[in-house]
Amino acid sequence: MKSHLKSIIWENRKLHIIDQTLLPTSLTSIPIDTLEDAEEAIKLLKIRGAPALGIFAGFALVAIVINKKPKDISEAIEILNFSASVIKKTRPTAVNLFWAIDRILKVAHGSFHKSLDSLIFEIEQEALNIYQEEITACKQIGIYGNTLITNPTTVLTHCNAGALATGEYGTALSPIYIAAEEGKKVHVFADETRPLLQGARLTTWELKYAGIPVTLICDNMAGHVMKLKKVDMVIIGADRIAKNGDTANKIGTYSLSILAKYHGIPFYVSAPSSTFDLNTSDGTQIPIEERNPEEISFFNNKRNAPEDVLIYNPAFDITPAENITAFITEKGIIYPPFEENIANIIGK
Ligand code: MRU
Repeated sequence: MKSHLKSIIWENRKLHIIDQTLLPTSLTSIPIDTLEDAEEAIKLLKIRGAPALGIFAGFALVAIVINKKPKDISEAIEILNFSASVIKKTRPTAVNLFWAIDRILKVAHGSFHKSLDSLIFEIEQEALNIYQEEITACKQIGIYGNTLITNPTTVLTHCNAGALATGEYGTALSPIYIAAEEGKKVHVFADETRPLLQGARLTTWELKYAGIPVTLICDNMAGHVMKLKKVDMVIIGADRIAKNGDTANKIGTYSLSILAKYHGIPFYVSAPSSTFDLNTSDGTQIPIEERNPEEISFFNNKRNAPEDVLIYNPAFDITPAENITAFITEKGIIYPPFEENIANIIGK
């Protein structure tokens, strides 16, 4: 298998990302130097996927401060506070974004009495820690998840929860990568993931890059495929997991969980601890991002709905805990009862 893609590159104190809106036709990396660059990259989904948003936000804050060249430490803290408040408003659902920003701010505020150079050094170290921790977590998720994968196996996944969306191995795709490294035969069905096609554009591209067999289907084919083809398991990622196990993930995940339950197919959610939000009691408390209606009314710059039609475009939905077989995390596989086991395993 080829080495894993790096969607975020931090080198010589410069931040670059793969512009995911250009995939699969162009693999282009772009610089992120300013707050405006960072804000636009998140809002337009040039960078996306919950863990990647956290990693990105950490490095972006460091890059913004460095490029602004503050004259002293209090100006640096002001820039950080302001940038953090703007970045926190970009996308509401993935908790990793808020988690990573708060980690950087905590280190910055704790370095207030130090020199400007030490402040920058320390927030850079914290961003690197976040990055390294997520890479390690993703690989460990794969190692645990691989124990659930028989040989051969067919897995159905939704959206993109692979290397592009995280650190290296991904979350939902990590068990698949580890199984393939071990020589297991894994075939993936990837939902295309309307309206922004993360499955079609990113997951199939990423799996092909890694040499893993993948079949692309439209979202509305999942039930048919489960009925007629052998789908052994569904593995998806997550944007936020509440205390009781209710899970926010890309729109369409909820329907998939019902289909899986109906067909008796195990439904796994793969996610690092940073995606669990133990301050949110259940799915009703998770904010769901609503996006521009034009993502639905236009396709390839061509209008495909009448101008005045009402459009509803939620980017995520909530899968109730009862539809989930288990969570695959870097701390182990968590089975029901979820509230108790999540508190014991993730809460520590
Ligand atoms: O809108 P996106 O592309 O950021 O949504 C991404 C997802 O829903 C992913 O499944 C989730 O963030 C997990 S990524 C490991």
